[in-house]
Amino acid sequence: MCGIVGLVAKDNCYSRILSTLGRLEYRGYDSAGIALLSEKGFSVRKKKGGVSNLAGEPLAGKTGIGHTRWATHGAPSDANAHPHIAGKFALVHNGIVENYAALKAELLREGETFLSETDSEVIVKLIARAYRGDFFAAVSSVCARLEGAYAIAVLCEDCPEEIVCAKYRSPLVAGVSCDALYVCSDAPALSGEADAIAAARDGEFIHIRDGKITFCDREGNRLERAFTPVTEQERMRDRRRGTFMEEEIFDIPRALSDTLAALRRTDFAPCARAMRSAGKVFAVACGTAFHAALAFKDTVEREVKIPVLCHTSSEFRYRDPLVGKGDLVVAVSQSGETADTLEAARLARSRGAYILAITNVARSSLASLADFSVAMRAGPEIAVAATKSYNCQLLCLYYVAAELCFFRHTRYPAYMAELSALPAAATAAFGTFSAMDSLAQRLQGAQGMYFLGRDADVRTAAEGALKVKEIAYVFAEGYAAGELKHGTLALIEDGFPVLAVATRADLFRKTENALEEVRSRGAYTALFSQCEAISESCADFKCRLPAVCEALMPIIAVIPLQYFALRMCALRGYDPDKPRNLAKSVTVE
Ligand code: G6P
Repeated sequence: MCGIVGLVAKDNCYSRILSTLGRLEYRGYDSAGIALLSEKGFSVRKKKGGVSNLAGEPLAGKTGIGHTRWATHGAPSDANAHPHIAGKFALVHNGIVENYAALKAELLREGETFLSETDSEVIVKLIARAYRGDFFAAVSSVCARLEGAYAIAVLCEDCPEEIVCAKYRSPLVAGVSCDALYVCSDAPALSGEADAIAAARDGEFIHIRDGKITFCDREGNRLERAFTPVTEQERMRDRRRGTFMEEEIFDIPRALSDTLAALRRTDFAPCARAMRSAGKVFAVACGTAFHAALAFKDTVEREVKIPVLCHTSSEFRYRDPLVGKGDLVVAVSQSGETADTLEAARLARSRGAYILAITNVARSSLASLADFSVAMRAGPEIAVAATKSYNCQLLCLYYVAAELCFFRHTRYPAYMAELSALPAAATAAFGTFSAMDSLAQRLQGAQGMYFLGRDADVRTAAEGALKVKEIAYVFAEGYAAGELKHGTLALIEDGFPVLAVATRADLFRKTENALEEVRSRGAYTALFSQCEAISESCADFKCRLPAVCEALMPIIAVIPLQYFALRMCALRGYDPDKPRNLAKSVTVE
């Protein structure tokens, strides 16, 4: 949720931290701060609001840390912004210290006073008290007392050009360039800075000292870790459009094309046993990825004829799921760092299940804990609301469904022959955007709206509704068209917007009937379909979708809805990249 960075560099330390924080800002943007260490001690600048508030006269120093915050403990304010200082130490933290209240009570009893309401300040206070001249030992001994999740980077005034970092259940990577050493919450934020990256694992420490980066265990014993070059996928591209979300929507054809090429190179043989003989198949995910997981369930049940148990990760982990040895659990996560999805995968693994991860971040925690990982090639996705990663998740999951068919000797899905049509169809979907703009203008003042569909279109409807909620702050619900009469209809009144997606020709009339029923009660209706029959529809607004085979339509049908949400957001005067209260990577429960 928060982003952290640490840097030792000969020059431009402040501006490098500032630009890295700019690339980390999608992880949290309610406050930001930097501390630099020089011969004169710490200089700190921290402010409520975005990273841009830190611009100004550069602070001096060759060693520094920075932070961009998504508030958990304590409201966004200058005082609660990181870094936090205690004695000779400065600290930035991403995560939640679950036992912070007990630790804070202990410190208060011993006479400590606190400047912030954060759990993080407790860590730095403890480090200052534990310090007996050995910087690493002080940090390590305090980490042994922390419960919860943390990635921390700590500076010590006695140790110039040194940073001690620790990682447990929050992401942390190290990076090197010819003239600088970095630690950071993620690899893409180091693009343009570091040439090679290595990721830390849970329980590990990263120690920058004497111009070197060392990975070590809690006793300080060195661990071997290979640095590998920053990949093309991890590189942030220059933004040519006004917002990241718009940029990412327009990147969908490229993302699909690269993901398809990667899938065709993927060897699924290591999954053979799990796929062939899995007792039960599960899918777990959160948010947008959950809608993709539901589409996976639909596809596997239709094509492979085996049931898939699909759960939101947060429910799965606390309901004593019926998962066991020999089951296959497909965990879907763009970031690969979502705490609930990671915990769901860990739980399933501890019970002997085989974990297949679908993630966009090859060095993520999910990818490293899974038995097998299918890497999407969406490239860095910065806008909080997922767009291109959803299209690519669907593509990967349809591909995995086909592999299940293969290993289970079921008829190979016909849609596999049509995959290459997807990038061009996604480009063709841009042709609907001016109509989406008109629709958004018509609906910008709406208090709420429904999205309807049947079968796979319910997933698209739910995803469209989620986008509208996330960035336009309009109540929206995705609903099965057939459920309309069982309650929802009571809410329909004059002008209430109902948007329906109907991509299955055999169900087109049924969805249209539902739309007619709301229309006759005054609703404003919009219909999205590639079917010929749309031309005869009485819907108030019609959007003709580019056609691919029906099974693949969810990958295309969602694109106009993504853009519609973006336009709603812009017309209502909000920033789509930084929706209020949300974060891209939800690394706490
Ligand atoms: C957050 C984001 C959503 C995302 C969800 C799951 O809530 O705001 O856009 O769908 O997390 O994220 P993941 O990285 O696991 O796909």
